[in-house]
Amino acid sequence: MSSQHSRAISDSQFKALAKIIYDRSGIHFPETKKYIVESRLSHRLVELELDDFDQYIAFLTMGPYQSDEFQEMFNRITINETSFFRNEPQLTVFERQVLPPLLEARERTKRLRIWSAACSTGEEPFTLAIIVHRALGVRLKDWNVEILGTDISERALKVADTGEYSSYAMRSTPELVKHRYFREKNGLWTIDEGIRSMVNFELHNLKDRLAAKRHGIWDVVFCRNVMIYFDAEMKRRVVGMFSDQLAADGTLFIGHSENIRDVNDHFEALPYTQGFCYQPLKASATKAA
Ligand SMILES: C[S@@+](CC[C@H](N)C(=O)[O-])C[C@H]1O[C@@H](n2cnc3c(N)ncnc32)[C@H](O)[C@@H]1O
Repeated sequence: MSSQHSRAISDSQFKALAKIIYDRSGIHFPETKKYIVESRLSHRLVELELDDFDQYIAFLTMGPYQSDEFQEMFNRITINETSFFRNEPQLTVFERQVLPPLLEARERTKRLRIWSAACSTGEEPFTLAIIVHRALGVRLKDWNVEILGTDISERALKVADTGEYSSYAMRSTPELVKHRYFREKNGLWTIDEGIRSMVNFELHNLKDRLAAKRHGIWDVVFCRNVMIYFDAEMKRRVVGMFSDQLAADGTLFIGHSENIRDVNDHFEALPYTQGFCYQPLKASATKAA
């Protein structure tokens, strides 16, 4: 380790920092992930001219720039892996099984609200916008479709705002979709302006229940590949929050390697093997659609 460019984290410093991260975000770093925290933050200590992680913890918790530094820390420690059309079989369930009856149920109000929670760099909400665009076709102009992408990482949302992506982000995108909804120049893919205008982005920490409440009731929530970083308590909290914020006939989609079995008093699984999706239990479904 070069003392010029990196700083080592001791077990007790890691414990203290992991608790701070957990209290703020629900992200659980077990001992085995100590190297991630160390490697991602040690350069930050060098930038700040801090000698060790004790000083960093003090800076983070007592300094005048606390909230800026929390943001900077989350920009660095979050794992933002994503892609367009990630897990296509699940999206097919959304497109063929969930969306058609939902659009029928909303035919009177012509209002559809979709939340992509923990959307990283925006590929997921843009994918959902493409699917809704495809489903509504020319009828889209008569509808009020709101798609919101939120994340705790400001840096990830800045990428989302540009609407420009590398070929890597496009790796699971069907050819037809690429040509219909993107413009490519020098290996950079720019999303169609019509799709871009269907999606808004906002900074949001899934721990913040009040902010979630302010966003109102959603017809569909996608929350994929983030609950793997949470412990049972945080998962319970987040699933409870989704149950408050979903319409009675709304649907929650989670990641294919995640489960909410042990923390779920609110939802029942829909019978689609590839769907990983849930609807509010009828007994608790009291909100108006
Ligand atoms: C692996 S990405 C998943 C992106 C997308 N949902 C997908 O499945 O492709 C996980 C994202 O969760 C975000 N995240 C982690 N903890 C969060 C929290 N407490 N609140 C909001 N977002 C969080 C990270 O910043 C990261 O962008």
